[in-house]
Amino acid sequence: MAKRSILFVCLGNICRSPLAEGVFRAVVAERGRADDFLIDSAGMGDWHAGQAPDHRAIAIARTHGLDISGQRARAIRDEDFHRFELILGMDRKNIAELHAIAPAAFRERIHLFLDFAGNGANEVPDPYFGDAAGFAEVYRMIRVASESLAAKLDTRVSAPISGQASSMT
Ligand code: 4NP
Repeated sequence: MAKRSILFVCLGNICRSPLAEGVFRAVVAERGRADDFLIDSAGMGDWHAGQAPDHRAIAIARTHGLDISGQRARAIRDEDFHRFELILGMDRKNIAELHAIAPAAFRERIHLFLDFAGNGANEVPDPYFGDAAGFAEVYRMIRVASESLAAKLDTRVSAPISGQASSMT
């Protein structure tokens, strides 16, 4: 079976999307499906390219038994729209910007993470200028949505994620 490929996207790729990458990877591993997924994350900008996640994101992940300190930030690039069948943005601004730069043929791959996971058409708020409590809330939202997403994809193993014919190469 071809791997599911999922890219999590936020603004800087140092807070929310690295947490989503780490948490979703852990959730599919708990389900014994680690080998079925290609999981990555990226930011809309390259301000933090090459950097480890924000220390507050590393800390909240560590509290929950996850080590995300080895991840490195990068900006989204054109090939990501071809490579990942599902591109999940954290907030509506991410979605609008992804839509603006995505090749038209791949726009259907772009969704709001919590909405696609079935947790309401909500945003994962940017915690960067907030405090540790903001990171704890972001972690909780991402954990719940990752469980929902894994369950949703479990039931659709033979169908293309977006409902359109897969053009993965
Ligand atoms: P992220 O959070 O998009 O969840 O990684 C942010 C990281 C950095 C900045 C803003 C948001 N920044 O302005 O540098």
